[in-house]
Amino acid sequence: MIELKDLKKSFDEKPVLKGVSVVMDDGKCNLIIGSSGSGKTVLMKCMVGLFKPTSGNVLYDGADFVNLSDKEQKTIREKIGMLFQGGALFDSQTVEQNVMFPMDMFTNEKYSKKRERVKQVLDRVQLKEEAYKKFPSEISGGMQKRVALARAIVLNPKYLFCDEPNSGLDPQTSLVIDKLIHEITKEYDMTTIVNTHDMNSVMEIGDHIIYMHQGEKEWEGNNKEIIFSKNEKLNEFIFASEFLRDAKNMRTIQETGEIPKEVEAGIKDAIEEKLNVDLDGDGHIGDPGKADEPSEKKAPPKK
Ligand SMILES: Nc1ncnc2c1ncn2[C@@H]1O[C@H](COP(=O)(O)OP(=O)(O)OP(=O)(O)O)[C@@H](O)[C@H]1O
Ligand SMILES: [Mg+2]
Repeated sequence: MIELKDLKKSFDEKPVLKGVSVVMDDGKCNLIIGSSGSGKTVLMKCMVGLFKPTSGNVLYDGADFVNLSDKEQKTIREKIGMLFQGGALFDSQTVEQNVMFPMDMFTNEKYSKKRERVKQVLDRVQLKEEAYKKFPSEISGGMQKRVALARAIVLNPKYLFCDEPNSGLDPQTSLVIDKLIHEITKEYDMTTIVNTHDMNSVMEIGDHIIYMHQGEKEWEGNNKEIIFSKNEKLNEFIFASEFLRDAKNMRTIQETGEIPKEVEAGIKDAIEEKLNVDLDGDGHIGDPGKADEPSEKKAPPKK
């Protein structure tokens, strides 16, 4: 579990993180979403110690990372795996060498042991053996991400950080990478933090979603709650971005007929209008009495 307490970060007096508090649980994909510049990367960098927060705390299973000694910080760092934006593989090293790198840095294992572990993790991310001796430039973007993920988990981390793991990937490959991250998180009961813009990821693997807006946590919830949230800023973000790609998910709701009771009529109507479907089967798309109904009111129960 990782807990952030009133985390602040400024650069030259300019506040970028304005006091973020959040709890991220084990065995969950904690997604940090928000528009460009909202502070996702800075937040992640403060968490892993690449930036020193201006104030506040980052607790790793209760241990206050920011105020630990260098030696104690190192113990926690060794439990952190990171998948950097763009993969950040070493161009001049083969796939195998890239994945072995953290073991070379942090362990004294014999070469044969290291190779065994490398094979294990490359198997886990479903990378075929013929790719082991290739250089990053010789494999596809999706394969590069698999390698980067394998490298991030090779030391068996307790905490996994992924900054925009899908950048540059097509939607299908993104889904494969998302699913791998999700499965691995559950399998090893890791606390995983993923920065993303991708609403598909949000719907697929968003066990816990934190929406950042101008350096503040504006909303948090899960991938069921996000669709029906009444938070205006969040709605602006999800509706403006790739919301329509999620039409498929919304249609599932339509097919199963499960619209949570607490859904505000206004939100449901907006979704209906976006998707041009009659979700609640009342014979109308959107709000039937837009002009004469006060917008605050809930719709009467329908059947
Ligand atoms: N090293 C730095 N020095 C000064 N300002 C910085 C530094 N790093 C980030 N910032 C500022 O912090 C703000 C948040 O940046 P950040 O990279 O966290 O955004 P982000 O949410 O990750 O955006 P994106 O979705 O584009 O990756 C930006 O205004 C950025 O200019
Ligand atoms: Mg970023």
